[in-house]
Amino acid sequence: MTPIAVSSPISCTSAVLSAIDADLLVVPWFEGEGPGAVPELDRSTSGEVARALASKEFAARPYDLFITSVTDRGWRPRRVALIGAGRPAAFGSDLARKVAAAVGLNARQRWIERVAFVVRPDAAGATPLNELAQAVAEGLTLSEFDAGTYKTDDPPPAKAPAWTVAVSAVTDDGFGRVNDAVARGRLLGECSNLARELANEPGNTLTPREFARRSEAMAIEGGISVEILDEEQIARLGMGLLLGVARGSSEPPRVMVFRHNPPGAPAGPVLGLVGKGITFDTGGISIKAAEGMEKMKDDMAGGAAVACAMRAIGLLKAPIRVVGVVPATENMPGSRALKPGDVLKSASGKTVEVINTDAEGRLVLGDALWYARQRGATHLIDIATLTGACVVALGKITSGIFGTPDAWVEHVRRVADRAGDRVWPLPLFEEYRDQLKSDIADLMNTGGRPASSITAAMFLKEFTGGLPWAHLDIAGTAWAEEAKPYLPKGPSGVGVRALAELAFTADAWPRS
Ligand code: BES
Ligand code: MN
Ligand code: ZN
Repeated sequence: MTPIAVSSPISCTSAVLSAIDADLLVVPWFEGEGPGAVPELDRSTSGEVARALASKEFAARPYDLFITSVTDRGWRPRRVALIGAGRPAAFGSDLARKVAAAVGLNARQRWIERVAFVVRPDAAGATPLNELAQAVAEGLTLSEFDAGTYKTDDPPPAKAPAWTVAVSAVTDDGFGRVNDAVARGRLLGECSNLARELANEPGNTLTPREFARRSEAMAIEGGISVEILDEEQIARLGMGLLLGVARGSSEPPRVMVFRHNPPGAPAGPVLGLVGKGITFDTGGISIKAAEGMEKMKDDMAGGAAVACAMRAIGLLKAPIRVVGVVPATENMPGSRALKPGDVLKSASGKTVEVINTDAEGRLVLGDALWYARQRGATHLIDIATLTGACVVALGKITSGIFGTPDAWVEHVRRVADRAGDRVWPLPLFEEYRDQLKSDIADLMNTGGRPASSITAAMFLKEFTGGLPWAHLDIAGTAWAEEAKPYLPKGPSGVGVRALAELAFTADAWPRS
């Protein structure tokens, strides 16, 4: 595999535990396991492992942590940590990723400089060892994210430790695959962190133009070609829905267009990724309540996921063509702003009566989905902080997925699940379309309160031209309101890994 440009690689070792060069050696531990599961740990700590297990100080529930010193002078690691991995049957790459992130956050709080995470081949169960190692590398990398960009008086946060992933008892071939998987996980974790940085950026610094500028720089580093369409080009394309939303703002809109065209790739399929890029959503004339409005700076998290997934796709050299489209604008009130009742004409020709200016995401996405088709997409995915109703339906741990045909939606669901971006389907029955009927135009932009995540998706469907299409509603998952052991408060980077991994699964796609 070609080397990948990352800031600092995670090293891999197949050394025995006693020979691993680290300040903290982390070993996942399952509920019900005795000290004999990894006997050398108990010996090297003078029986501390057995004591902690017997006294129930350490019960191996997920994220439980037990740290003790190594007393054996022959050992290189100075301390060992047992990290709870729960019941073996429930363990897989999802929990491995979260447990690794929790360890990483903890190690950073303790200012530990070198951390080695042991991937136990005996614990892999049904999960391939390389998948587990990739997930661990992703988790460790995700723990490096720091949300305090603009803090000036706090002491600076601890520098990320140097990470090692340790696997013992593998063949040379197996070790090679683990090495590649760790590099892949490192890169995907870093791209997720870049998306988190963008989503964390306030509306005053991340204007549509700045969002485009930063995304372009990141994607170009990944070998992706980028075009940024300005307001005149957008007008020439007839994107009336996007221009309608942008009217209220003094910041001009942009459309980012990313292309990955690897030499020798087949003409099709072409993956089309579309991300909502509202750099701040006030609601417009249908203005939002003040409380919590500050969170609407992350209304471009879908667009950031697309930009950062494109970077990953380029760096990982995905074997197919991919086109990414991110419409970026603010949604502001103002004397020129869109008004309820206004009728807009989309680039596809369909007309839309705007009932609520706060339903702006579907407007900009309608034009962007159309444009992704113009640029050759054969299979569409869009990702958007689209509806508050999705948070009501699925909460903050699962994104909604909608689309057609079922085989495409199910494929995307599985890939997303494996990538740690859990999604769950909601239906798009034809009858829901009635809620969008307008008296004056082809469509209304809202369908009332019932099933409003679904009617939002039905609106998008009008612009997909019948292509296989899946819509991910990340309104609940893009931002963590409460810290979890594996995820601090703030932007999550949801979707980056799922979108990037999709570009490696074309063999399994349904053909249209
Ligand atoms: N960006 C919001 C959706 C949102 C809400 C994301 C809460 C994250 C948390 C979106 O543009 C919006 O305002 N949607 C409206 C649609 C309604 C007016 C039909 C909503 O969900 O209330
Ligand atoms: Mn809105
Ligand atoms: Zn919005």
